[in-house]
Amino acid sequence: MVCLGNICRSPLADGLLKAKIEARQLTDSVDSAGTSSFHAGEKPDARMIATANSYGVSLSHLRARGFEAKDFDLFDRIFVMDKSNLQNVLKLARTEADRKKVDLLLNLSHPGENLEVPDPYYGGDEGFHAVYKMVDEATDVLIKQLEKNDG
Ligand code: 4NP
Repeated sequence: MVCLGNICRSPLADGLLKAKIEARQLTDSVDSAGTSSFHAGEKPDARMIATANSYGVSLSHLRARGFEAKDFDLFDRIFVMDKSNLQNVLKLARTEADRKKVDLLLNLSHPGENLEVPDPYYGGDEGFHAVYKMVDEATDVLIKQLEKNDG
């Protein structure tokens, strides 16, 4: 799961998907990163931690890191939050196989629409709850795909 800072959107997608995987006792591994390393080493934004907590999801153990080309080797699928993240991740792709791993997260819940998870960083609390709803819907679709693959 990839966004810009790895402190708002992608940690939520990471923590929420991990919670869904654990609840179903699946074995898939999940991680998140930012296309910028500006916040590397930091916890998720306090507003994102509080929003996730209000839905019973803990994010406070996560720490930000930058996305690296080697992530293409470590992960089968790479979901980005917006089109800017998409461009930045694709710049690091080395092969067509790398490029094929990448998609906008909301194409899971809204196939082919190329919708973005908006950056909530400069807005109010309602933006964080809106992000939660979008990421929850998309990860619900993803978890069904992962259940099929495991089953
Ligand atoms: P994120 O949000 O990409 O969802 O983690 C942001 C976090 C920090 C900044 C921008 C977006 N920033 O400009 O520092």
